[in-house]
Amino acid sequence: MCGIVGYLGHRRALPVLLNGLKRLEYRGYDSAGIAVPTEDGLYIAKRAGTVAQLEALLAGVELPATSGIGHTRWATHGEPLDRNAHPHTDASGRIAIVHNGIIENYSTLKAKLREDGYTFRSDTDTEVLAVFIGALYEQYGDLELAVRTALSEVQGTFGIVILCADQPDTLIAARRGSPIVIGIGDGEYIVASDATAIVEYTRSVFYLTDDEMAIITREGCQTKTIDDIPTSVQLLELEFDLERIEKGGFPHFMLKEIYEQPQTFLDACRGRLLPHEGNVKLGGLRSVEPQLRRARRLILTGCGTSWHAALVGEYWIEELARLPVEVEYASEFRYRNPVLFPEDIVIAISQSGETADTLAAVREAKLRGATVLGIVNVVGSSIARETHAGVYIHAGPEIGVASTKAFTSQLAVLMLLALYLGRMRHLSAAQAQDIAAEIRRLPEKIQYILDHAEHIRQIARQYAQARNFLYLGRGVNFPIALEGALKLKEIAYIHAEGYPAAEMKHGPIALIDENMPVVVIAPRDELYEKVLSNIEEIRARHGQIIAIANEGDTELPHVANHIITIPHTLPLLTPVLTVIPLQLLAYFIAVERGLNVDMPRNLAKSVTVE
Ligand code: F6R
Repeated sequence: MCGIVGYLGHRRALPVLLNGLKRLEYRGYDSAGIAVPTEDGLYIAKRAGTVAQLEALLAGVELPATSGIGHTRWATHGEPLDRNAHPHTDASGRIAIVHNGIIENYSTLKAKLREDGYTFRSDTDTEVLAVFIGALYEQYGDLELAVRTALSEVQGTFGIVILCADQPDTLIAARRGSPIVIGIGDGEYIVASDATAIVEYTRSVFYLTDDEMAIITREGCQTKTIDDIPTSVQLLELEFDLERIEKGGFPHFMLKEIYEQPQTFLDACRGRLLPHEGNVKLGGLRSVEPQLRRARRLILTGCGTSWHAALVGEYWIEELARLPVEVEYASEFRYRNPVLFPEDIVIAISQSGETADTLAAVREAKLRGATVLGIVNVVGSSIARETHAGVYIHAGPEIGVASTKAFTSQLAVLMLLALYLGRMRHLSAAQAQDIAAEIRRLPEKIQYILDHAEHIRQIARQYAQARNFLYLGRGVNFPIALEGALKLKEIAYIHAEGYPAAEMKHGPIALIDENMPVVVIAPRDELYEKVLSNIEEIRARHGQIIAIANEGDTELPHVANHIITIPHTLPLLTPVLTVIPLQLLAYFIAVERGLNVDMPRNLAKSVTVE
């Protein structure tokens, strides 16, 4: 949710920390701060606002320190105010901590510490943890022991990095439920909540596991559990390079990521699609092939955009594999006492691999004996590690808060999965070959839509001041209506609802008047005529119709106010194309409204709290 960075090495820490915070700002951007050691104790600068504002505060400040910690925040406990920004310190001001996650028993701890005479300056749970560690440090005189003792008493989730003025050449990091990744460079260590802050210094990293901590000094890095049992780490090579996390000439990450989709879609399929054999190779699922053959039901789970991908997957898997699929919000699944049979397969879909609800759903499903798989983007993330097996989508880092390229890559993997399961069952090689051949053509068709984005920008201009939008789609494009509406809500702050087109007359039709833009997804498929009837119903009430139609459609131009065309493809595959104009429409409307597309209000990438 928030971004953490820590540095210990031979460079000046301050620029490294600020640079890291800029890279991590997409994870939270309501306040930022740093702490570095000086001869007179810790130097701390923090404030509500952006990293650029923190940088302005630090303009002209020269600090020789070669270690330090930093944080960019997405508020959970306490408003985004200067005093609530991280780092937080203990009572002595000699220990500073940056924290992601939530300390659930913070009020009990706070009350106890108050009884012992401690006072607090912020409204945060993190300050309570800092004061608690400080109190134990005073008692034991041993920082590591104080940290371990405190962490074994706190409930909730944390990814933390601690710096103490008495040991300026040590960083202590720990995690429970909130990622911490440690980069090992040449004589330097970079600790962060995600690898984007690390990749320009080193590609060699390892992730802490839950209840694991790292004590990083100039002599080396030691890992152990918070119960003091030594652990060993698994070094990974980061797969992406700096270019993937820079805007590369685009005004926003979101636009860059929308334009990356021909490539990322291809990457998700690379080496997996065997069009000549009419088959699919998913190496990550080899170990669970017997379970997949036996499966009687799949449960797909995720949140937000990933949940929308799951809905598309439901249509595809049921159609091609004739296997019943249920789609559940992870947040509901985890608390619902779900009925699971031993032969059920649960598939968690998550870009970040860290979403708290999805991770909890994974754990719940495992506890109940299901085989649990992951469709994840971030390599080495919690969901990737905790599932029995899975498939990476290989979309590269997604920085834009609104998910775009991860969605189409999730779709790619879900389609491959549907073919894979289908070929294990009823799907003929010839049918699979036809679909596989068309999947290979999708990247150039996505590119075609991107090449015609200017027309979508023109439409966006006309509707940028609308107060409400309705998105309609049928069949496999119904989830795309939901996704289009979500994109508009989150970055343009316009109320929007997605509906199955036929449901409109059961209520939402009452909303339609000349001020209501209605985006109708109407590719030429078996439901096309039905969608045309829905469009007539909107027309009769003077709604403004923006239709997503196939090239060469001769009927829609007569009934819609605007047409956005997409190339022809197999009806089942249309979601991969229909979603692209909706991403662009939301993007252009948000830009037209003067909004910060990459940092939409109240949102942050990766929701690691409940
Ligand atoms: C929407 C968006 C969110 C995420 C959701 C799940 O654009 O980004 O709705 O899709 O928070 O995140 P992941 O996929 O990381 O589990």
